[in-house]
Parts: sequence; C-alpha cells; structure tokens
Amino acid sequence: MSLQTPQGAKLPSSRQLAMELGVSRNTVLAAYQELIAEGFAEPRTKSGIFINPEILKQLSKTKNALQPRTPNSDGPVFKVKLDTPSTHPPEIHKPYYDWHKLKYPFICGQVNAKLFPSSTWIRYLSMALDPAHRNYSLSDDPEHDDPLLISTICRRVLPSRGIKADPSMILVTMGTQEGLFLISDLLFGDESTVAMENPGYPDARHIFLRSKANVVAASVDDSGLIPESIPMGTNAIYTTPSHQFPTNATLSISRRHRLLEMANESAMVVIEDDYDSELRYVGRPTPALASLATSEPVLYLGSFSKFLAPGLRLGFLVGPPSLIKILRQRQRYILRHPPGHLQRALGLMIEQEAYARHLRRYRSALKKSWQLTTDSIQEHIPWVKIYSTAGGTSIWVEVDASVDAESLASEALNQEVVIEPGNVYFLGDNPPTNFIRIGFGAIDANSIEPGIRLLGEIVNNHIGKMRCK
Ligand SMILES: Cc1ncc(COP(=O)(O)O)c(C=O)c1O
Repeated sequence: MSLQTPQGAKLPSSRQLAMELGVSRNTVLAAYQELIAEGFAEPRTKSGIFINPEILKQLSKTKNALQPRTPNSDGPVFKVKLDTPSTHPPEIHKPYYDWHKLKYPFICGQVNAKLFPSSTWIRYLSMALDPAHRNYSLSDDPEHDDPLLISTICRRVLPSRGIKADPSMILVTMGTQEGLFLISDLLFGDESTVAMENPGYPDARHIFLRSKANVVAASVDDSGLIPESIPMGTNAIYTTPSHQFPTNATLSISRRHRLLEMANESAMVVIEDDYDSELRYVGRPTPALASLATSEPVLYLGSFSKFLAPGLRLGFLVGPPSLIKILRQRQRYILRHPPGHLQRALGLMIEQEAYARHLRRYRSALKKSWQLTTDSIQEHIPWVKIYSTAGGTSIWVEVDASVDAESLASEALNQEVVIEPGNVYFLGDNPPTNFIRIGFGAIDANSIEPGIRLLGEIVNNHIGKMRCK
C-alpha cells in the first residue's frame, strides 16, 4: 500500500490487510493509528479509514517547493552577497590534500605529524576532563578565555619574547588568521592604508582587502622590512620581524627601533606577526617589537600552529585591554570562543613544562632538517640563491631568471616533489616568477637529501626546456 492510492480512497480493513501482509491484526491497527495521528488518514464513523485528501494536496505543494528554481522563476530569490575584493590577488593554493602520502613533501605551513607529541597531547586532553578542570573545558563562556591558558601565556610564553603582559591584554584566538581578521575588521575600512612587506603573507593581504583597506607595499632586504620604504600616510604596518615571511630575514635591532619611532611619530599601528620566532637555529630569538614599544601599542599575534600543529587552530593576540575587550565581543558573534577543552589542555601542557620540553625537542629535530635541506640545496643545486636561513620552517630560493616557478612546481609534483612557487607572495601585477619556497617542517629528515637531488634534476630539465623555447 502506498499513498499513491487515490485521494480520499478507503483503506482496506485491518483484518483484510493483516491477512494480505501475513502480519497480526494488532500490527495493522497500530500502523493505522499512527497514520491517523500524523494526519495521513482519517477515520469516518461506520465507514472505515480513508486517506486524508488534504494531506495529499499539502504533499504535492511541498514537492513543488523542493524543485530547484531557475534564477528567473517566480517567488523570492536569495541574493548572495559576493564579498570579493575588487582587485582579486592570487591565493596560496595547495592542490595536494594528501601531501603526506607523497614521497618528497617540501610543503610549507604544515608539520610532520610524526613529530607531534601525540601521547602528551592525549594525556592533557584527558586531564582537562578531570574533575578539577572539566568545568573550564566544557563551559560556554564567551566573556573569558581559560584563565589557566591566559596565565601560562603571560608567565611562560611571552617572557621568552621579552613581553610583559597582563591577562586583560590577551585574547585567545583560533590562530593568527582569526586575530588578523578581528583587527582588520574593526580598525580598517576604505579610508585606511595598510602597508605590508613585499614579498609578504598573502593571507594577510586578503584579510586587509576584505576590510576594503588600501594595501600598499613596503620593501624588504636581508635585514627584513625597510622602515623608510613604508609609504607616507600609512595607517598600519603588518610585519613579520622574527622571520620575515617568506624570505626568513630577521629584522635588525636598529630597524626595530626605527620602525617604532616612525610609528610613534605618525600614530601608525604596528601589527607584529610572530608566528615562528622560537624556531631559530643560529643565535637566540630577537626581542619582539611588542617588547620594545614604549608608547604606541604594537598589536602582537602569537600562534601555536608552528610549534604544535596548524590543525589545532590555537593562537593569541596581545593588545591594550580596551581593544581586547571589543575584539572579544566581536569574536563572540563569530565563533563565541575557541574550544575550552583545547584551551585547558594547552594551558596544562604549558604549565607542566611539557610544552617547553616538546619545543626543545622539536627545535632540534627541525634544526637537523634545516641543515640537511640547506646542505642538499648547496650540493645539488649550487647555483641558486638561498636567502637568509637563521630559522623558520622553509627556505626561500631564487632560481634562474628563465624559470617559471608555477610550471616548475607542477613538473615537480608529477614526480612527487612538493615545492611552492613564489609568485603569490609578491604584491603587484607582474610578480617575479623565479622564486620558490622549499619547506622542511613536514618532510621526514631521511627524504630530504634524495628529494633535493631529484628536485635538482627537475630544475635542470625545466631550465633546458625554457631555454629551448
Ligand atoms: C606569516 C604567517 N603568519 C601566521 C601563520 C599562522 O597562522 P595561523 O595561526 O592562523 O595558523 C602562518 C602560517 O602559515 C604564516 O605563514
């Protein structure tokens, strides 16, 4: 039996249907009661049970409503607001989701899952649900971050960057990306000019453009950002002083002071993205701009993406309490707050020193990979120019002027070598095409030398092809 039965038709008697279906009469009676309760059938005194003609009309209306509409059809049409900036610069694009299955993933911005302290993290995730901690893990509180995490950031993370901060100056974010978005969304609009390093971090550029800001370029060299190259009239500068992204140059101390002086003179906001300062292999990490600032505030963005894993989406923002308060309120209506469970687990991990131990081990593993990558490039592709390599998780390389980095990257990918073309990091319409980024944070150390050797062959073939063109 189905509801295709004509409208208003009488249903078979319960006795007849039970015989037909070979089930008990009670089963049929129960099914009829259900149909009546849901309005599909109606009992008529002394006549039996009938299909409700009204419900069939309703069903056919619902069916029509679910038909896809063409844009010009009748009825309300939802207008999607396509919030694409008028100029649409290229984006970082990683076409290889399963990069970890490839032989030579010199991918950037990812970590080697084998170096992640899984059992330690599981221990702290579990501890965060112990009676003493579980309320902090499970509560919904958009007005406060986890007090333990905030306190450990103040006492154990920021001092290594020379920063003294009060808990009221910290907002836990779901990574630098969210912190940047909150700042840009609040502070910038079509009347703002935001400068950023060129080459620089494309995601920051996209975020500023989405706030309708005018994004302008500031130059960099081997000592990082050149403060004098920041165009006049700039309202804010976004910079990556520890390891300039993507060249890895460290901003010299004299330039740090000069930049802060300029910021004071022109009331320019400084946004310091300190995404991987602890991953330094030569000398000591340099003091953060935020630790040197005296009057004009520096908005400082910290991230656990590089030290733990980007998939955890944990970071923080340091700024004046009044700003933090407003940003927290805005965050509330986007995602309420980063998960309490993750916050408490990370707070416990930092408090009990497991985070510092992991960082030491991780830094020494990455130092080995950094050394291997640098040595292998010098051995197998000695004629390329390697930019400053005191730290970070990738190496910025300038290849022969004939190279088209995008084609080179896809030729390399065909042989399971992942590298990133550098074009996307430049501002302006005609970026140089002969820069590549070679990441060493995600690849196994023992794949580095054979991978770079193969890359050397691929680059040589590519140059041969380009020169024959
Ligand atoms: C320049 C820069 N800043 C920050 C980050 C970290 O961002 P998030 O904390 O959102 O993962 C990255 C990650 O690749 C980066 O390259």
